[in-house]
Amino acid sequence: MRTNLMLTAAAFVLQAGVAAAQTPAALTGQVSSAEEGNMEGVVVSAKKQGSTITVSVVTGKDGRYSFPASKLEPGNYTMTARAVGYDLDGAPTTMVASGKPAQAALKLKKTRDLAAQLTNAEWLMSMPGTDEQKKFLLNCNSCHSYQRIVNSAYDPKGFVEIFKLMAGFYPGATPERPQRLGGNGNRGDRLESRGGNVEKVAEWLSTVNLSKVKKHEYALKTLPRLTGKSTQVVVTEYDLPNPIIQPHDVILGADGMVWYSDFGQMFLGKMDPKTGKVTQYPIPMSKPDFPVGTLNLEMDKAGNLWVGVMYQASIVKFDPKTEKFQQWVMPKEWQTDNAQTGHLAVGSTHLDNKVWIKNSDQSHILRLDISTGKFEDFGNQQDPTTSRKLGTYGIHSDSKNNIYLLDFSNNGIGKLDAKTKAYTLYKTPTPMSRPRRGRVDAQDRLWFAEYGSDGIGMLDTKTGEMQEWKVPTKWSAPYDAAVDKYGYAWTGSMSTDRVARLDIKTGEVVEYPLPRSTNIRRVYIDDRTNPGVLWVGNNHGASIVKVEPLN
Ligand code: HEC
Repeated sequence: MRTNLMLTAAAFVLQAGVAAAQTPAALTGQVSSAEEGNMEGVVVSAKKQGSTITVSVVTGKDGRYSFPASKLEPGNYTMTARAVGYDLDGAPTTMVASGKPAQAALKLKKTRDLAAQLTNAEWLMSMPGTDEQKKFLLNCNSCHSYQRIVNSAYDPKGFVEIFKLMAGFYPGATPERPQRLGGNGNRGDRLESRGGNVEKVAEWLSTVNLSKVKKHEYALKTLPRLTGKSTQVVVTEYDLPNPIIQPHDVILGADGMVWYSDFGQMFLGKMDPKTGKVTQYPIPMSKPDFPVGTLNLEMDKAGNLWVGVMYQASIVKFDPKTEKFQQWVMPKEWQTDNAQTGHLAVGSTHLDNKVWIKNSDQSHILRLDISTGKFEDFGNQQDPTTSRKLGTYGIHSDSKNNIYLLDFSNNGIGKLDAKTKAYTLYKTPTPMSRPRRGRVDAQDRLWFAEYGSDGIGMLDTKTGEMQEWKVPTKWSAPYDAAVDKYGYAWTGSMSTDRVARLDIKTGEVVEYPLPRSTNIRRVYIDDRTNPGVLWVGNNHGASIVKVEPLN
């Protein structure tokens, strides 16, 4: 039995090797360092001079990399490399010509500033403290990286002031564009409810930053580079035309056009993946004194795009044929300073003309009838056993336009029946899994990311059964999950610069490394080809990223 298994494994490796060898290469080489010799798992990137598109591959076992000819057209390329602990020696450029592959050997040298390279997950691994203490920082990664926190000099009192300051920022505020909330808007209640005792947290944080020391005295731990199957991937990154664009949700139209929502500006973006050309369509304002930016981007059955316009407390529909917006503004009675309509569901709106909307102020669920313009209020839902209110994040509809509410503040999945309005609460087996966002597939299974427990969850809405899987890297903080038609579920990470693909049948998860710092929200799979291709937005790096596994 054992020999059989080994034979199958060997045959698989051989096949993969043959497939890779058959693709003609445009550029190949080997990556090495004095410390390690030839290095596996290094992400090597090539960007044509003057282009906005960067292509990356990952070195295999002997440190070799190979860019397929289909990915690099002839021209002059600047090369970069990512391997934590190392910098690329020099700034090599390479001439790619058609016909014969170019060669570029890359040398890495030890970095002199390891702290500057650490991802959020690596900071959490490194800093002293218990997991319970560190979980507080999962509230602090959406607007900027942990570098700002660990490199600060705040004492406990200073941190308490910092928490208050942070609670007054719009969710898509960044240090580059620090939008404050409007009116009396404040998000402080959320931070406190998720983090426990504020003074204790502040005390602990002052032991992991630079308030008492000049340099971090704890050892900086790094994640081992990914190897094996994780190296069989091509990553293409498309720069967006302005560094303040935050591509929160990225989805594809039937024609392959890429659409994105911008978390900090009033634009719907469109990108042509063949050329990288971007068009921005301005979204109408409805509350001029309130922050600007959008979150959820969805496509209905007819191919119209729908956007949740956050603190403008409105939603819009965009027809790509006429390039016109239609807008629905929330009724006056819910127009509080905290009114926020980031999330909506339109997947089954063709059945009953109804759109589900979440108002984040009190996690109110609303339903809009687009034929009459009337809103129905479903209020907020509770856990019947404890009377705790659900802290709903993503909302997702099934084939009957029933809606599922992902309880980000605990481990619930609420369901509202479209016809009977009956409410049911399911719970994930893992406590505090913090379901964040997901998607209902063609079989009416709800796939979702477990932000608080580094997992992917699945609720079979027909049977009520749940299943859970873990992603391999601790502190991944996955935001979203989706499944393709070949049986793979994908998720991203707000803290590791890795994406993960789960084989549902075997439970195997393969992670793929990305070429630079990201912060990933929505995940979208284009499964028109096999294997499916992952598209994500680099929310903090103003780019769109395509991940193509080679098998
Ligand atoms: C909603 C967005 C948002 C969240 C969430 C957030 N921050 Fe910030 N943070 C900002 C912005 C914007 C700035 C830049 C402020 C400025 O320069 O005016 C900032 C700056 C900082 C700074 C540097 C301040 C300085 O003096 O330079 C620290 C420290 C910090 N944040 C800590 C935290 C901590 C701790 C958390 C989690 C409790 C957190 N942040 C969560 C938006 C956020």
